[in-house]
Amino acid sequence: MKIGISGASGQLGQSVLKELAQRGGGHELVGISRSPGTVRSPAEGRWGDFDAPQTLSAAFAGLDRLLLIPSADLSPGVRGRQLRGAIDAAVAAGVQHLFLVSAAGTRKAEVPSLIEPYWTAEQHLIRTAPLWTILRMNYFAESMAQEIQMSAAMGVLTGLGEERVAYVSRDDLAAAAAGALLGDGHAGAIYNATGPAAVSGEERARTASQVLGKPLGFAVIDEAQLRGGLSQAGLPEIVVNVMADIKKSFVRGDFDVVTTDIERLSGRPPKSLGQILAAAAV
Ligand SMILES: NC(=O)c1ccc[n+]([C@@H]2O[C@H](COP(=O)([O-])OP(=O)(O)OC[C@H]3O[C@@H](n4cnc5c(N)ncnc54)[C@H](OP(=O)(O)O)[C@@H]3O)[C@@H](O)[C@H]2O)c1
Repeated sequence: MKIGISGASGQLGQSVLKELAQRGGGHELVGISRSPGTVRSPAEGRWGDFDAPQTLSAAFAGLDRLLLIPSADLSPGVRGRQLRGAIDAAVAAGVQHLFLVSAAGTRKAEVPSLIEPYWTAEQHLIRTAPLWTILRMNYFAESMAQEIQMSAAMGVLTGLGEERVAYVSRDDLAAAAAGALLGDGHAGAIYNATGPAAVSGEERARTASQVLGKPLGFAVIDEAQLRGGLSQAGLPEIVVNVMADIKKSFVRGDFDVVTTDIERLSGRPPKSLGQILAAAAV
C-alpha cells in the first residue's frame, strides 16, 4: 500500500511516520506538508499546502490511504475550509480510504467555535469519501504537562470549574493512527483516542505535586481572571480566546470520555498524564 500523512513536518505527523516505519510491512510512505524536506527516509516528502488546493492533487497522487492531520491555524473558519479542500482533493485524486484526525466532543458547531473545523471536516468526509475512518483526539497530555510546568512556580493549577479530561499522549495517538492505517475493518468507524482515565482538576494537581515533588493545589477561577493571566503572560488575543474556549470545553465535559481505542488500534496501553509529566520534567 501507499500511505500518505499530511502535517508530516509536525509533531504528530512525524510520530505517525515513525510508527509506520517501525511496523514495516513493505508499505510506501509519503509525508506531505509545506516543508517536505523535513520528511525522513524511508518516507517520501511531497509538497502540499491546504491553502493552495491545486498543490494537493500531485501531493495525493497514487495514495491508497491518507491520514489528514489538521493544521495548527487557529484563525476562525480556516481549518474547516482547509480540511474540506483537502478531502475534495483526495477524493478527486482517487484515494480510496481517508483517515481524519478530529477532536473529542465534536458536534454541530458554527464558526468561530473551536470544534467547527472538526464538525465541518467529519461531515464532509462522511458524505464524500469512498471509505473513511475518524480518530477523535482528546487533549494532548504533553500540552497539559507544559502548562503544569509553567504554573508550578505559583503553587496552584487553575481551571474554570470542575473538569474531567482524559489527556492522551501525542505518541499514543500516533501509534493508534498507524495501527488503523495499516489495519482492516476500520472503515466507517469513529474512534476516541483517550488516555487511561479522566483526570479532574484536583487529581491533576495531586499528580503534578507527586511527580514534581512540590505542593500544588487546584483553584477555580473565572473567565476574566483566566483571560487576564494569559494576556499578562504576553499571549496574543487569538491564543487567549482559544485557551478560554478549551478551558470552557473541559468544564462542559467534551474531553470526559475514556475508551480502550488506543490499545485496540496500537496494541499497547495508553500512558497516563503522570507518566507524560514525569518524562517532561526530567
Ligand atoms: N488535542 C490537542 O490537545 C491539540 C493540541 C494542539 C494542536 N492540536 C491539533 O493537532 C494537530 C497536530 O498537532 P501537532 O502537535 O502535530 O501540531 P504541529 O506540530 O504544529 O504540526 C502542524 C502541521 O500542520 C502543517 N500545516 C500547517 N499549515 C499547513 C497548510 N497550510 N497546509 C498543509 N499543512 C499545514 C504543518 O506543516 P508545514 O508548516 O510544514 O506545512 C505541520 O506539519 C494540530 O495542527 C492541531 O490542529 C491538538
